[in-house]
Amino acid sequence: MNQKADAIVAAALEAVAHSDSIQELEQCRITYLGKRSALHQLQKSMGSLSAEERPGAGALLNECRKTIQGRMDSRRSELAAVELENRLRSETIDVTLPGRAPARGRRHPISLVSRQIFDIFEKMGFTVLEGPEVEEEFYNFDALNIPPDHPAREDQDSFYIAEDRLLRTQTSGMQVRTFKRFKPPVAAISPGKCFRRDTVDATHSHTFHQLEGFLVDRGVSMADLKGVLTGFVHQMFGAETRVRFRPDFFPFTEPSAEIAISCFNCGQTGCRVCSTTGWIEIGGAGMIHPEVFNSVGYDYETCSGFAFGMGIERIVMKKYGVSDIRQFYENDMRFLSQF
Ligand code: DAH
Repeated sequence: MNQKADAIVAAALEAVAHSDSIQELEQCRITYLGKRSALHQLQKSMGSLSAEERPGAGALLNECRKTIQGRMDSRRSELAAVELENRLRSETIDVTLPGRAPARGRRHPISLVSRQIFDIFEKMGFTVLEGPEVEEEFYNFDALNIPPDHPAREDQDSFYIAEDRLLRTQTSGMQVRTFKRFKPPVAAISPGKCFRRDTVDATHSHTFHQLEGFLVDRGVSMADLKGVLTGFVHQMFGAETRVRFRPDFFPFTEPSAEIAISCFNCGQTGCRVCSTTGWIEIGGAGMIHPEVFNSVGYDYETCSGFAFGMGIERIVMKKYGVSDIRQFYENDMRFLSQF
């Protein structure tokens, strides 16, 4: 009995000493002091001893249990101290480290350039007016001299949401809305989203931004149109930039012109930005058609006016060398944070 007990204690103390975590120690307790332990078996077998032997054996085994338990308790406090220390170390906060600054938002390139454009036109006396993105057919087409059977409607494959309502395909309808509300003189620009059933690629998007501008007063001429747009181009792209007007066609202007600027990237020697032509098209313009004035009750005999329209994405792309229009709408911070 003595030998057996000694061997059990020796094995138990050895195992306790080698326990490196509280879990291991708990395993040890089950093995050496639990119901299935050798020590427990020995205590159970005391029934077969004689009455004289029993007290001595009982005392011996209790002593063994105490020794093992005592060693386990002290090992447990050691391990608990180590674990606490490790935890404290891993949870330490270095208050001297610089903080992580929250990500700062910034203006989207479309908004950024739009604001530059507003500033320039506001200084020239234009008011900024915003119109509805869901537009009546009348303003988007009919009143702009584009009757139902006009081929220009087909160029602008539209998203209709009702028989006579659609997502506007252009901001030009704001000419009509404004003329219906205000008598001349009027000078306004109207920026905003437009929508067309275009197949998306590097230069086309179903949703894009236009800027419409118009001025109506007594005696407004094509010279005023050229003057205003040249002033805009000089402020937007630099005073050395040249402006080119070529004949074009729009149903709501007569005469109509295409507006192009000399390439600010290569100084007109030819590069990728201007597709080697030296010129960059930025929009359309013209003298407002009498039919538009008729549809709003303006007297064509006493007033005249000009209008122009530009694609905002196109201006941003040319100005900053963006080659794919889709980048504006993908919310990729690597792209957006460059502006
Ligand atoms: N809204 C026209 C378009 O989407 C652009 C335009 C051309 C607007 C000539 C005008 C203009 O005001 O006079 O193609």
